[in-house]
Amino acid sequence: VVDRAISYGDDLAYIHDAGFGHVAQNAATELLRLLGKRGIKRSTTNRVVDLGCGSGILAQAVSAAGYDVLGLDFSDSMLALAARRAPRAEFRRESFFTAEFPPCLAVTAIGEVFNYLFDGRNQDSRPFEVFGRIFSALCPGGLFLFDVAAPGRVAKPGIQRGFSEGPDWACLYAAEEDRRQKTLTRTITTFRREGEFYRRTREVHRLRLYRSEDVKRRLRAAGFRVRILRRYDEYRFPPGWVAFAATKPAR
Ligand SMILES: C[S@@+](CC[C@H](N)C(=O)[O-])C[C@H]1O[C@@H](n2cnc3c(N)ncnc32)[C@H](O)[C@@H]1O
Repeated sequence: VVDRAISYGDDLAYIHDAGFGHVAQNAATELLRLLGKRGIKRSTTNRVVDLGCGSGILAQAVSAAGYDVLGLDFSDSMLALAARRAPRAEFRRESFFTAEFPPCLAVTAIGEVFNYLFDGRNQDSRPFEVFGRIFSALCPGGLFLFDVAAPGRVAKPGIQRGFSEGPDWACLYAAEEDRRQKTLTRTITTFRREGEFYRRTREVHRLRLYRSEDVKRRLRAAGFRVRILRRYDEYRFPPGWVAFAATKPAR
């Protein structure tokens, strides 16, 4: 069951794109560097599949570098921004739980995509089930680059509050981690200028947190070689957030 009202509606999609694009931007640089190092033959496929593509920040950078990009996301508002930002890429409104992955050179999932509980099918370790399908879709030597939020994502017990602002928007957030259940709840209140007024909206996001050792184990079980990353290019993750560069062996 999807609560459409609380998963990156128009205002939060706009704010994510305007104020929180640095993670995807740095992930795109990291991805292009890793693909360049590998020298994988593009003749098989040069497609990059971006799960939870959001507003298309990575898709734009990667398609500008000459790759074919397929972006999948759950949010219509994010996809509308993505189509404008990266017109050469293809976008579909689909959950990674049900989507069929075409043959590809790389798969990405940037910005805690596997943690979100927007899709009611996301329970316990179910997002890991997708690893096998990704492995099958990747060409030999192909790369799976993604990050997950882990226990400790909220540094201290209790509610952590913060805010961000731009010229025509502001957002306030409160995050609380349930250490026992390994879940995180973020309540995000957004203000976006509309004419001379600001519209106020609220989204509540629930995330399940995964230990990096468990993710690594599941990746290995699917056949990947795994490297843990503490940064995407210039963006260094805070504690409780970790990335994986997983490779399908060349043969
Ligand atoms: C924090 S945003 C990151 C967006 C983008 N990757 C970026 O880094 O800018 C997380 C994205 O994951 C998407 N998402 C969450 N669960 C999803 C699912 N089951 N299938 C597809 N997209 C999903 C959300 O709609 C949202 O756009």
